[in-house]
Amino acid sequence: MKMTKLASAIVGLALLSGNVLADDLPNVSILATGGTIAGSASSATNAEYTAGKVMIDTLVNAVPQLKDIADVKGEQIASTASGNLTEQDWFKLANRINELLAQDDTDGIVITHGTDTIEETAYFLNLVVKSDKPVVLVGAMRPSTAISADGPLNLYNAVSLAGSESAKGKGVMVVLNDTIHGARGVTKTNTASVNTFESKNGGPLGYMSYGKPSWVRQSPYKHTYQTEFDISDIKALPTVDIMYLYIETPAEAVDYYVKERKVDGMVFAGSGNGSLTTPLQATMEQYSKQLPFIRASRTGSGNTPDVSYYPEFPGSQGLSAQQARILLKLALTETQDPKEVAEFFHKY
Ligand code: SIN
Repeated sequence: MKMTKLASAIVGLALLSGNVLADDLPNVSILATGGTIAGSASSATNAEYTAGKVMIDTLVNAVPQLKDIADVKGEQIASTASGNLTEQDWFKLANRINELLAQDDTDGIVITHGTDTIEETAYFLNLVVKSDKPVVLVGAMRPSTAISADGPLNLYNAVSLAGSESAKGKGVMVVLNDTIHGARGVTKTNTASVNTFESKNGGPLGYMSYGKPSWVRQSPYKHTYQTEFDISDIKALPTVDIMYLYIETPAEAVDYYVKERKVDGMVFAGSGNGSLTTPLQATMEQYSKQLPFIRASRTGSGNTPDVSYYPEFPGSQGLSAQQARILLKLALTETQDPKEVAEFFHKY
């Protein structure tokens, strides 16, 4: 009888400690959008595959170790190659993230995403998520069916980071290949390598080692809960397009964008330090009181500051053209004044 009581006490304690341990795990929601991480090919060695084929439950079940580090819930937001995502998908994603993070029982968010445009979605979320809880985008360069697929470890690292206390307040992050990138400046630099992502103009925020983060840097730019952008009531963002500069860029393309496309603003991926051709500059000057033109650079790195020889065309302050476009869209929801718009590029 004594033994039975002791045994049941031990079992009770074990169950209790098991429950306590289970309750101690962070709650992480995974919002899936597709991409190569959810890609599927006809064989493990076929380089051609279809992105966004595998659903989130299958991806989660393929990494049983996730159960040891978090209580994970999956939701399918989209199932596509990331180049097909739309602004409406961004709104859906951002509003769902804000809804989940407002709840006490959500500690962090992971978004599975194609790598082709992950830097755009990450920077958009970095400007509109209203929480200091971790938000981590993750992708993969090899489809889920590939030999040596990189998705499972990337997902494990992303879930662990999203549940980590030390990742709070760091802004939206992108994790691949054991590296933690801040949203501002992260960019895909190689078409196929698993080491494709780089953080331009500052370097990564840190590194992951089998789920353990270590930090080397903090972004000096404001983000997430520190921004004024509230998209909860916005149905569409202003239209902003990008022009890429090269020798003999047709200046009349600017007339087309302003008069036919009726853009609200434009970003120029200029040569070198955001330089413009003389004919292009002359055409842009005709419209510069009407709408903002931001100078980025096609070089892929380095600062693009405001310069005295282009007083009407502010620099993107090192943002790539594709990230500058997102900030310009959001800035235009606050002000149409080109001078005030330029200030946003120094803050974010
Ligand atoms: C995509 O961006 O959806 C395809 C490429 C990738 O995820 O690596």
